Amino acid sequence: MAQTSPHSRFAWLTLGLLTAYAPAAEHPGAVIYQKMCQECHGAKGQGVKDKFDDPLTGDLTLEALTRKIERTMPEDKEGTCVGEDAKQVAAYIYESFYSAAAQARSRPPDQDLSRLTISQYRASVMDLIGRFRMGPGFDRPVKLQV
Ligand code: HEC
Repeated sequence: MAQTSPHSRFAWLTLGLLTAYAPAAEHPGAVIYQKMCQECHGAKGQGVKDKFDDPLTGDLTLEALTRKIERTMPEDKEGTCVGEDAKQVAAYIYESFYSAAAQARSRPPDQDLSRLTISQYRASVMDLIGRFRMGPGFDRPVKLQV
């Protein structure tokens, strides 16, 4: 009987939260971003009023994002962030806030919990209850009102 122990679930959850909230180690692209991009796009890509107020998020692949940056950015100084620099800064943006995965990571955890489907929620609760119901018949199905 292969069951995920509640302990390992909590370990993963904790690890996930730590990864999401640990301050990002200085990425080489971060340095470039702060120097060449932040004034118009904001420290976290949130946008800057009167410069470019849309958040820097999207669904381009990392390669396409790199090419777009090489061709069009920084605005009015195109051609100053190309090659390795464009690659680094694109990777930084992509991992920190641009990609869908990065956006999901920065959502608060209570919202993530609220996204559990009923059956995922039920399974988590069952796992928890299972820990305390170790007497005879503890693995009997439990009817839950959710
Ligand atoms: C002087 C202001 C300015 C600077 C500096 C600047 N940008 Fe932009 N950026 C803009 C504006 C305005 C737009 C939207 C117009 C456009 O797409 O040309 C934009 C658009 C973008 C887009 C496309 C966003 C989208 O939703 O289509 C990316 C990606 C981007 N910038 C990355 C960068 C990077 C990386 C740097 C630094 C190397 C940078 N920008 C520096 C003003 C700036």
